[in-house]
Amino acid sequence: MSKIVFIYSTIDGHTLEICERLVHIVEQDGHQASLQELTSDSGIDLESFDRIVIGASIRYGKHRPEVAGFIDKNVHVLESRPSAFFSVNAVARKPEKREPHTNPYVKKFLAKIAWKPPLIAIFGGRIDYPSYRFWDKNMIRLIMWMTNGPTDPTTTTDFTNWDEVEAFGRAISAMGQSTPDGNTPT
Ligand SMILES: Cc1cc2nc3c(=O)[nH]c(=O)nc-3n(C[C@H](O)[C@H](O)[C@H](O)COP(=O)(O)O)c2cc1C
Repeated sequence: MSKIVFIYSTIDGHTLEICERLVHIVEQDGHQASLQELTSDSGIDLESFDRIVIGASIRYGKHRPEVAGFIDKNVHVLESRPSAFFSVNAVARKPEKREPHTNPYVKKFLAKIAWKPPLIAIFGGRIDYPSYRFWDKNMIRLIMWMTNGPTDPTTTTDFTNWDEVEAFGRAISAMGQSTPDGNTPT
């Protein structure tokens, strides 16, 4: 049994929802999970956890600045134990944009931080037009129109592939554990 912390940075709650699913999966696998929101003043102490997972969503091309700030501050702890990172964005609704080297935001983000997460996932986000304010709604509609996504302002679309979330959860459960033949599952 490991103590696993899930640290999330969200605006509209979808990254939290993904974390809640991951918590459920690792708990089913017998681990103890904890959820903590990353904000500019959250003061999270990572030392007491055996494994660390950080998840963050994209808004107007970027994760919140406190995500890279938190990683910079904690890079030694992150490198000292099994860790994972995931990003949530609308571009990742396209399967070919769900790899660290094909998702433009993740590629750029990984190039600027010192941490090299051994496990990375990228999930499509949720587009929830009815909940957006005028400006955001129209900006997202424009982006979606340019990239062949949904533009009907009355709709909500969940682009997350929940089977991939499940697989990521199982991979977190297995992180850092050796198999009987001495290999570490990937
Ligand atoms: C105002 C706004 C800006 C966004 N900008 C981007 C963007 O630049 N690129 C992208 O791929 N997705 C973008 N998205 C989609 C979000 O990443 C997606 O809605 C995600 O599910 C949000 O996660 P959260 O609820 O955890 O914040 C944007 C969404 C909103 C509402």
